[in-house]
Amino acid sequence: MTYRNPPTTPRKSATFDDYTLSEIRRAAATGIYDIRGGGAKRKLPHFDDLLFLGASISRYPLEGYRERCDTSVVLGSRHAKKPIELKIPITIAGMSFGSLSGPAKEALGRGATLAGTSTTTGDGGMTEEERGHSKTLVYQYLPSRYGMNPRDLRRADAIEVVVGQGAKPGGGGMLLGQKISDRVAEMRTLPKGIDQRSASRHPDWTGPDDLEIKILELREITDWEKPIYVKVGGARPYYDTALAVKAGADVVVVDGMQGGTAATQEVFIENVGQPTLACIRPAVQALQDLGMHRKVQLIVSGGIRNGADVAKALALGVDAVSIGTAALVALGDNDPRWEAEYNELGTTSGAYDDWHEGRDPAGITTQDPELMKRVDPIAAGRRLANYLKVMTLEAQTIARACGKNSLHNLEPEDLVALTIEAAAMAGVPLAGTNWIPGKNTF
Ligand SMILES: Cc1cc2nc3c(=O)[nH]c(=O)nc-3n(C[C@H](O)[C@H](O)[C@H](O)COP(=O)(O)O)c2cc1C
Repeated sequence: MTYRNPPTTPRKSATFDDYTLSEIRRAAATGIYDIRGGGAKRKLPHFDDLLFLGASISRYPLEGYRERCDTSVVLGSRHAKKPIELKIPITIAGMSFGSLSGPAKEALGRGATLAGTSTTTGDGGMTEEERGHSKTLVYQYLPSRYGMNPRDLRRADAIEVVVGQGAKPGGGGMLLGQKISDRVAEMRTLPKGIDQRSASRHPDWTGPDDLEIKILELREITDWEKPIYVKVGGARPYYDTALAVKAGADVVVVDGMQGGTAATQEVFIENVGQPTLACIRPAVQALQDLGMHRKVQLIVSGGIRNGADVAKALALGVDAVSIGTAALVALGDNDPRWEAEYNELGTTSGAYDDWHEGRDPAGITTQDPELMKRVDPIAAGRRLANYLKVMTLEAQTIARACGKNSLHNLEPEDLVALTIEAAAMAGVPLAGTNWIPGKNTF
């Protein structure tokens, strides 16, 4: 007699889930690894794991609609003769021309300017659209040197030396041949239609001493006027922040692993770097240990989405945040109105991340002349400005409820964490307790 199990619900493996299985099949069929844009998609400790306490008997709130709550910030006051003055502590992160279309760059400049903040160039240089429409433009100095020239250094309002990015600390970007149009090729002084892999480290330095020399050179070229930022991926935030300060940075930018990229290996995006939340406390601690907190400003990026995220980052000691992905969504990226075309590309709105292929139906991550016409830079810029305004109002609402007349007066004491992990990373108590796991260690 053969024994047969009674029927049960078939059980799939948590380890070999559907996505993992499809990735194994894809790798087996093609022999190539996956490249995509965006940031880490897996669930990570994040700002959602923190809550504000708000006012109570022992804390006095400010009136929501009547009492002032300052949002302005000055960046680069350490050495620069002309520091950057912004109305809001939310900046637009560096995104390359090449990965983004010209109209998208123009829209970023317009939106940032309307909202009183800065935008940033990226790999591939400074476009006239972006310079022309950005009141305050930060010029990136990247390992690839694509599109770099001294004239544009002088036309910028600040310079950002990019050491790394949160999506790929230690890695370089890539721009596939189909996005290398005549214009992109000319700006990068490289051939048209050939895949370009950006360098992962600067050609002329091997460590912090070289960084110090490079920063001095940049100051000389720009007559000590422009603030110099140093951007690092979220790898070793305590030491990277301390070394950037030692090398002379006016502003340190720390980009956590949820940070977006235009194109990188999926395995890299999901497995290298530390979550944004885990980067903040060590970076702030480094500045405090050096007596430089608030003297050298700290910008944090990677997965910032709303005013609560902004307020939480500021409460942990950050001076400003920077956004990439969310700004693209505000412009129209991944908009459900293009759903039929996303479906033709084998994806859906909200999941489209093959930005490197240059076929973006929304016209943002493409160099296709027809697709990019879908971006109206004026309307898209206005949407970005609206979104920045809402984020700022949301952050102010929270700050007032915590009794703060400036966003920068928010403090760790205003926060609790929902999980032990977030409590340890952010250095705030677990909700309902006065326990800060791992206090003074990281
Ligand atoms: C389309 C795209 C292009 C990017 N290009 C660059 C770049 O050229 N240089 C750079 O330092 N970072 C680049 N980044 C990373 C952003 O500057 C920023 O660190 C990141 O997007 C922040 O995370 P968020 O997208 O979650 O806001 C890019 C990001 C995106 C989404």
